[in-house]
Amino acid sequence: MENRNAEWQELEARCRDCRACPLGQTRTNNVFGTGDTGASLMFVGEAPGEQEDKTGIPFVGAAGKLLDRYLYAVDLPRDKVYIANILKCRPPHNRDPEEGEQDACIGYLREQFRLIRPRVVVCLGRIAAMRLIRPDYRITREHGQWVQKGGVWMTAVYHPSALLRDLSKREDMLRDMWAIRQKLEELGVAPCVEDTANE
Ligand code: URA
Repeated sequence: MENRNAEWQELEARCRDCRACPLGQTRTNNVFGTGDTGASLMFVGEAPGEQEDKTGIPFVGAAGKLLDRYLYAVDLPRDKVYIANILKCRPPHNRDPEEGEQDACIGYLREQFRLIRPRVVVCLGRIAAMRLIRPDYRITREHGQWVQKGGVWMTAVYHPSALLRDLSKREDMLRDMWAIRQKLEELGVAPCVEDTANE
């Protein structure tokens, strides 16, 4: 455990100083991740936006606030899951992450997976799904479907930013979020809001 904590801190420090791609020059803050490093469930988004770049915390802007509402709706406390992104630095003007930037950054996420050892990984949106599930992943057609990779259950849901733009996707999102909750219960690893309240 102590080793794991030391490795985690070393990883975070390395990431904070990273200059492996040009985004290291333009970021305000590096956005490593947030939540419980012992979580069974990890969410992986695309890349930090403006608010995340300002604060150093993932999913704190409008999309993040909407994500919080879905987490609450299915009784998943945000502090009992771990939330990270494919890219740790903000691409200018929130453009899609380039492949070279993803290649430069993905090692940090892989190390986060190795140290957290989640049972379930949820991709938030197509960029994460294309990187972590399959390069030709089609979010509209395949969201909510499950695959197992290296003993980890994986799925993808719509990116919360897409739900801000298109209200018609919200019903599907709620259904997918309930299915995630159910998967954790099947695996016997579901946290709940009451656990947090009693701490
Ligand atoms: N969008 C993402 O993909 N990640 C964030 O952290 C914020 C917005």
